[in-house]
Amino acid sequence: MTQLPWGIAEAFTSDEIASLSTLRRDLHRHPELSWHEEGTATRLASALTSLGASDVRRVARTGLLARIPGRRAGAPTVAIRGDIDALPIQETTGLPFSSEVAGVMHACGHDIHATWTVGAAMLLRKAPAEGDVLILLQPAEEAAEGAAAVIESGALEGVTAIFGAHVDRRYEVGQVVAQEGPVAASADFFRIELIGAGAHGARPHESADPIVGAAMLITALQTLVSRRLDPAAPGVVTVATIHAGTADNIIPDRVLLTGTVRAVDAASRALLLEELRHMTDRVAEAHHLVARITFDQGTPPIVNPARPTAWAREAVRAILGPDADVPLAGTNMGGEDFAFYLERVPGCFLRIGAREPGGAWLPAHSSNFYAAEESALVGAAVLAETARRAAAALAT
Ligand code: NI
Repeated sequence: MTQLPWGIAEAFTSDEIASLSTLRRDLHRHPELSWHEEGTATRLASALTSLGASDVRRVARTGLLARIPGRRAGAPTVAIRGDIDALPIQETTGLPFSSEVAGVMHACGHDIHATWTVGAAMLLRKAPAEGDVLILLQPAEEAAEGAAAVIESGALEGVTAIFGAHVDRRYEVGQVVAQEGPVAASADFFRIELIGAGAHGARPHESADPIVGAAMLITALQTLVSRRLDPAAPGVVTVATIHAGTADNIIPDRVLLTGTVRAVDAASRALLLEELRHMTDRVAEAHHLVARITFDQGTPPIVNPARPTAWAREAVRAILGPDADVPLAGTNMGGEDFAFYLERVPGCFLRIGAREPGGAWLPAHSSNFYAAEESALVGAAVLAETARRAAAALAT
């Protein structure tokens, strides 16, 4: 085990560290996909019950909610959220506790997120916050559906602030990003059908060729970021799939394109979606094609507000020292459904360093990804202390 940062080692007993390690490895061995987290929920419910959490119950089908009573009845309630689902990837890490489920693995570190959420509950039982802390173990983050289902269930009614975090191997264990402003992008998806008229491949003048139109459109869509978006604002337009055609002497009558649009503020997001529609309609028209565009609206960007971020940052510095508080290494264009909570409740989303000293950076969602186990203890201590500071500040 790597040396634990000061403030972490003293927060847990060695038995607690051992039980969190066992929990993490159990979860890692038995990963479950979005909306199928039955075994995970059962395992986590027993972990929460055995540490003395009250009102442990299922929420949003395969999620869990528990309550850690505060020191004073009627003081503000704060929530800590950890996500619990895995990905359809065959694990190649070679870890001794590798996935035992073929084709499914914890390739995004949600085994650690679930563990640090239980760890935070453990610490809050020993040193409670001013008010109650709701422990939320959210399903289906990878499907970007779990947060919306939790909100729909009403489980967060009465919650005055919410905190969550993600592991990140760009930072060493003991480093934490608690940064105001954008920390995750919006993630919207589009589907464009270009409909023309098919013909013999030798007689293109008798067709309205959707393949040539699609080629022009794909190139034109790359000008949305370079010519329409303010160069100071990050954005992405990616065409990710193209499907058309059946034989090399036939011009097909339609092409299907799908892809994703990313932005880190609401105005850029709206502009890119609107300009995508405009460009698609005009390019289609120029090629005698009809365009059918559908958007699958995904998560909004995460923009951490100032006050809750300050509480999180103070917690990081108090537990890990001032050097632990590091800036985001670069704009993150990934999406995260925690954004739906922040549309309703103030809070902060942190990134918790998960690379062991001297270890390699490994991309999340790859078959060799894992998070250093000690990051679970860091996440637990930081989130518990953030909840305490938030509750204290909100109570005054
Ligand atoms: Ni993730």
